[in-house]
Amino acid sequence: MTRVTKAVFPVAGLGTRFLPVTKASPKEMLPIVDKPLIQYAAEEAIAAGINELIFVTGRNKRSIEDHFDKAYELEMELKADGKQDLLDVVQNVLPNSTSCVYIRQPEALGLGHAVLCAKQVIGNDPFAVILADDLIRSELGVLRQMTDLYDRHQCSVIGVQNVAREDTHSYGIVKGKASGDRIYSVEAIVEKPHPDKAPSTLAVVGRYLLTPRIFELLERVTPGAGGEIQLTDGIAALLSHEQVLAYEFLGKRYDCGNKSGYLQATVEYALEHPELKEKFHAYLKGLKF
Ligand code: UTP
Repeated sequence: MTRVTKAVFPVAGLGTRFLPVTKASPKEMLPIVDKPLIQYAAEEAIAAGINELIFVTGRNKRSIEDHFDKAYELEMELKADGKQDLLDVVQNVLPNSTSCVYIRQPEALGLGHAVLCAKQVIGNDPFAVILADDLIRSELGVLRQMTDLYDRHQCSVIGVQNVAREDTHSYGIVKGKASGDRIYSVEAIVEKPHPDKAPSTLAVVGRYLLTPRIFELLERVTPGAGGEIQLTDGIAALLSHEQVLAYEFLGKRYDCGNKSGYLQATVEYALEHPELKEKFHAYLKGLKF
């Protein structure tokens, strides 16, 4: 039996929906209260037993590397000031057993292309793909729910969520046959279908477990919607070779790639934050609309 121990974080997108903040800073470093989106994603991966984090980065993404690196000067100052609690926060961004690899995607040619950039590092192993701007709050991390499924079925698993039919044009949509609790055997997958043409309302969101076969298929994908190499097209090709499962995960997803989803996540995470929750709740209650 193989296990998933590697995760790819594609973070080379331009983040145009957040301009101007993303002009010089990565979208994935936007904070939800006090942690950047990419750290929530890394923590979810680590909780699923993943110990190799592969970041596919682009220009203006240096701060992601710095975030996961050791911060000698800051640590020395916090130590000298006796601020042990903050020192712990800084030192525990990643456990020591985790390693990080950074790969450049020279041009933002699409999510499928970003994943393909990780081919050499992944080799012949199954791997996870996590989009940090899809933040998912759940008791048991979504990736952990999915690796449990991978352990049992040893095949690709994609995370899906039911969306309103009028929103299907914003997602990859899966046609599947129910094959267990919240599990579907995928028969087809289409990128951004018109609501009238969508085969279902099961939308692919930013969590995937893929077998390495995907790489040879991605190499053959031609640019699709928006001139980009779509991961969805690679998965569609995978369907004629291997079984692919869709899994309707347990958890609440916030689309932090757009401003409204990002603000909703900020408010809801603040309402649960031990340091803030009471005061912030009182503040919101006092607001007049
Ligand atoms: P998005 O579709 O959200 O694109 O990418 P984007 O560029 O980040 O943001 P907008 O739409 O311009 O506002 C989904 C994920 O895929 C990564 C992004 O970093 C994001 O995590 N991505 C996308 C790449 O790494 N490379 C690409 O070429 C495209």
